[in-house]
Amino acid sequence: MDELTLTKPDDWHVHVRDGAALHTVVPHTAAQFGRAVIMPNLRPPITTAAQAQAYRARILAAVPSGLRFEPLMTLYLTDLLPPDEIVRAKAAGVVAVKLYPAGATTNSEAGVTELRKTYKTLEALQREGMPLLVHGEVVAADIDVFDREAVFIDTQLIPLRRDFPELKIVLEHITTRDAAQYVAQADAFTAATITAHHLLYNRNAIFSGGIRPHYYCLPVLKREAHRLALVRAATSANPKFFLGTDSAPHPAHLKEHASGCAGCYTAASALELYAQAFDAAAALDKLEGFASFFGPDFYGLARNQGTVTLRRANWTLPQSYPFDQAQLKPLCAGETLSWKLG
Ligand code: DOR
Ligand code: ZN
Repeated sequence: MDELTLTKPDDWHVHVRDGAALHTVVPHTAAQFGRAVIMPNLRPPITTAAQAQAYRARILAAVPSGLRFEPLMTLYLTDLLPPDEIVRAKAAGVVAVKLYPAGATTNSEAGVTELRKTYKTLEALQREGMPLLVHGEVVAADIDVFDREAVFIDTQLIPLRRDFPELKIVLEHITTRDAAQYVAQADAFTAATITAHHLLYNRNAIFSGGIRPHYYCLPVLKREAHRLALVRAATSANPKFFLGTDSAPHPAHLKEHASGCAGCYTAASALELYAQAFDAAAALDKLEGFASFFGPDFYGLARNQGTVTLRRANWTLPQSYPFDQAQLKPLCAGETLSWKLG
């Protein structure tokens, strides 16, 4: 197969930042996807319906003319987010609420310190039928960084699932066999997104020939056995698994740093990277469901109209993009990919 036409896909998890950065990254996402779920971990975080609406307008102002792109907005869950704000958010078109355990990742300082504190708000979320998007990692210092996701499932997610049986939950950017198995056996209220980088790489990528900060993201890449389990899940045609790039831009000098930021920038070549991963698994015929159907079905939104076409063709990713006053280095900068969009 040398050509693949898909119903226009969506990205169910992306970071586009704010200000001047929007003008680099929004055009990349809008060129690939019809819609994208926009993460709210700005500084300060997006915690009100009004902030989400204003942020949406700033994103739309960065969409190049001629492209149709719909940002799907989210709120950032804190210990203090009031249940009323969920009702206002729903009315304002906000599609979901994001749970960051406090301290788990970039700009998560305002995140949740204890799930119980949010239960009134989660009840409102369940009532409104809005999904809770979960960064599923515990942060305790005595838990190994590679075990954070599996421990989160056992100690946080299983009790949460039991306490809110009809709350739609998306376990975001899953990285382990444990998560893939948990989601596969869970009921229809539970789903997961999978990034391209977790399908393509195992943790060796972070250490091959020296420390490679552009492969550092959270949850961190895991062993090969986990990568293989994610590939099986993504290519299984199980509608619980769908596309979420977790593309997370940081200026290159803050990734190539003594304390480098977490996040892989994949937005500019997202579909090409997923095609590479599905092709390697001889499962290109499963890409459309994963990229274009299962996400909107889970969120209760219509599938997109229109199509995109991927062609088998070698092309080389740029070394970097201008990013405000800095540079943004994509994952696989300067490397050759074998699928090209458009
Ligand atoms: O690698 C990551 N980067 N993981 C996250 O959870 C957040 C993201 C970011 O915002 O940079
Ligand atoms: Zn993310």
